[in-house]
Amino acid sequence: MRDLGYRVIDMLVEHARDLRQKSVTKSMDKASLASLFHEPPPEEGQDLDALLKTANEDIFGNVMYVNHPRFFAFAPGPSNFVSVMADALASGFNVFSGISLEGSAAAQIEETVIDWLRQICGFPHSAGGVLVSGGSMANLTALAAARKTALGDEWHNATIYCSDQTHTSIDRAASILGFREGQLRRIPSGEGFQIDMDPLIRTVHRDRRDGLHPFCVVANAGTINTGAVDPLPDIASLCKDEQMWFHIDGAYGAPTMLTEEGRALLWGMEWADSLSLDPHKWLFQPFDIGCVLVRDRHCLKEAFHVLPEYLKVAMSEGDGTDFCDFGPELTRRFRAFKLWMSVKAFGLDSFRRAVEVGLENARFAESQLRASDAWEILTPANLGVVTFRYRPRDLSETELNRLNLSISRRSLSNGFSMVITTELRNRTALRFCTINPRTTREDISETIRRLERDAISVTHAVATC
Ligand SMILES: Cc1ncc(COP(=O)(O)O)c(C=O)c1O
Repeated sequence: MRDLGYRVIDMLVEHARDLRQKSVTKSMDKASLASLFHEPPPEEGQDLDALLKTANEDIFGNVMYVNHPRFFAFAPGPSNFVSVMADALASGFNVFSGISLEGSAAAQIEETVIDWLRQICGFPHSAGGVLVSGGSMANLTALAAARKTALGDEWHNATIYCSDQTHTSIDRAASILGFREGQLRRIPSGEGFQIDMDPLIRTVHRDRRDGLHPFCVVANAGTINTGAVDPLPDIASLCKDEQMWFHIDGAYGAPTMLTEEGRALLWGMEWADSLSLDPHKWLFQPFDIGCVLVRDRHCLKEAFHVLPEYLKVAMSEGDGTDFCDFGPELTRRFRAFKLWMSVKAFGLDSFRRAVEVGLENARFAESQLRASDAWEILTPANLGVVTFRYRPRDLSETELNRLNLSISRRSLSNGFSMVITTELRNRTALRFCTINPRTTREDISETIRRLERDAISVTHAVATC
């Protein structure tokens, strides 16, 4: 056991040491991978040395490194080693975090970290929450609580509102919860990709006149596309006037509440009825850990409590919180431990400063891009995200879209960095998400230099064909 453990630790430490020099995006094609791994389940055990070698080279050598300092796509996953070790301990002790009788200290640690997150996000003492696998599950859990609290079992004419920039996990959650497609109203976003309040209010009023039951607004505290934050105070007051549930998807942006800048941008968060946030994004935890907070902790239990006959004694004997009653999972990993251990080890101020680095790096990327006439900023640095495109003169919008897609494909294939596109009102945009605090200014400058080099050669190829 020790020998295996030491070798695993060595693998992890060497990976962390060499990460900056490694390709961000290396991967094999499906057929080659299938030829390596597709086999019947082996009857006989195999030598661990050989297995670790396969793991190191063929498995972990063929995944993208989302914690690489030049991984700028999606929401990066800049994990930390203390939490990785904490996860190993949680797995090693195989802690069951469903009912407090089976994991009383684990339940207490979960209560503690949820209370920390509650304080960071400015929620009242009445609030509670539960840790889940990520933002998608947090949004599902929050909407399930909202549906139960606001609608009971009658949701056939209820309507939910969100902007056209809202993450698709909301569509999926609404569908799982039995809402038909038309019951989720996508409201156009305005200039800064924030929800436009006038059409939102008009749609809510019109729906009510038409006999529908507007019941929930989902606001963004950092959209994945551009980092846009919806006008939270305006939405809070609409929800209050209309007696609607106010949910915020802060899966990616809410951890910036640690910083002064974040608190100013996300002002109004404290009025939400529920909030999703992902420690596995901007709180530097390894996958997976998401969190849903609700203003009134009882509403989670209302939505999720069940009591199987074989757990009757177990659930009444523990005097702590049975977290299986707060969300969809009964058997649950001890996710709280890694967040607890890393906050205790580093201190919250280290997290705050690490978040600030991400905010600052996006501004640095924007300034570097602005220094060259060839780049156009599509949305300025906002919650660690900046979007841009290469824009030589005399190209049509269609040609620009094709060109920027090609630049992104080159970046994907050369492996130096991971910069891919999103779409903003039919324009193909390149995107930097700079939440990894290990990203240096040199990483950013060199990535831009190489993107520009790729852009020139792709433009040349387009012009000559
Ligand atoms: C705003 C937002 N909400 C929800 C999600 C989904 O989170 P997860 O991938 O952890 O399920 C994401 C993912 O990037 C996100 O950015």
